[in-house]
Amino acid sequence: MSKIKYFSDNLDVQNKTIILRLDLNVPLNEKKIQDQTRILVNLPFLKNLIKKKAKILIISHLGRPEGVKNTELSLTPIYKFLKEQLETNVFFFMGDINEETKSKFSYLKEGEIILLENIRFFKKESENDDSFAKKLASLGDIYINDAFSCCHREQASIHKITKHIGKSYAGPLLKKEVNAISSVIQNKKEPVTCIIGGSKISSKINVITNLIKNVNNIIIVGAMANNFLKFKGFKVGKSLIEKNSEKIVSTIYADAKKYNCNIFIPEDCNVSTNFEGRAITKKQDSIEENEIILDLGPKTLKNIENIIDQSSTILWNGPAGYFENKNFSVGTLSIAKKISENTSKKSLISILGGGDTISALNKSDNKFAFTHLSTAGGAFLEFLEGKDLPGLNVLK
Ligand code: 3PG
Repeated sequence: MSKIKYFSDNLDVQNKTIILRLDLNVPLNEKKIQDQTRILVNLPFLKNLIKKKAKILIISHLGRPEGVKNTELSLTPIYKFLKEQLETNVFFFMGDINEETKSKFSYLKEGEIILLENIRFFKKESENDDSFAKKLASLGDIYINDAFSCCHREQASIHKITKHIGKSYAGPLLKKEVNAISSVIQNKKEPVTCIIGGSKISSKINVITNLIKNVNNIIIVGAMANNFLKFKGFKVGKSLIEKNSEKIVSTIYADAKKYNCNIFIPEDCNVSTNFEGRAITKKQDSIEENEIILDLGPKTLKNIENIIDQSSTILWNGPAGYFENKNFSVGTLSIAKKISENTSKKSLISILGGGDTISALNKSDNKFAFTHLSTAGGAFLEFLEGKDLPGLNVLK
């Protein structure tokens, strides 16, 4: 199997324009950054490139604007934050990407940075359009992908761009993620438990059906669990539900039976009539029509803690509740605490991933210890599945 080409510190990048694909997709609320992790982890490499006198062109996406300019998803707040953090000139480019763009960057000096506006404002990015990728590639001399979390996307700035530029490398963060997750996959010990949260079951169906073949237990948490409760015939009130999820859930149960994998869903939940409310604990069969499931209940948490105690490897992606309201962050933080304790004391192998999961943990004052904390969500899960991610493939 061919190997990923990693950026080497010996590479001479002085006066070269580096196209650096990062994942600066941070949570925003009214244009304010809610969690800086995904930016902060990139600063050491950026500082290294500045020191090495490269000219740096950063590309990132934010959210899913689907080819439409949307001020709510502008990278402006991230640009301002980068300016504060870096002792060099940082510029912001909001123009079009075409044949003239390169000439507009002629002012860029060694060690300086231009951040491009949200690349997904261009429809052709998500379409992995070849001519768009070529125009992007023409802006620089060397391409570095340091966005492991985007490598499951076949998009122009991740995939086709490498076809049109002489040298492409994976950056140090990407290397760290790939090494850490690969090592967990190779060294994982049974029983293996996977905790999956988040809201969209359709986006994780393939991951779940593939994991079923390789893990002993799957614990479904977060809004995703609502679909399982509904499938089992429980009323879920006003809780978030995905349309037509019955078939998906039924397939998951059928596969789980076939491969001898246990599926756990919540037995009790913490609910409220609104997202800003307080938590009321309800059994799965007594949820009222006007209630929303927003967190796991205490009985479910006890069960999950027992399963964690019996596990030797834990893989976790997606928060267990609506952690944005402290009243509903108990499930996520209790699971994190238990995994962290067992990682420190019982040599549990633990690997966590996802922007939301990290944001939830960062909201707590607790210090957690995990074998690896990945900033990636979907890419992390697909890599765990053993998939050849398109963004990694082109770096080989
Ligand atoms: C993520 O948040 O996992 C990455 O930024 C990728 O985002 P996407 O799922 O919108 O491609």
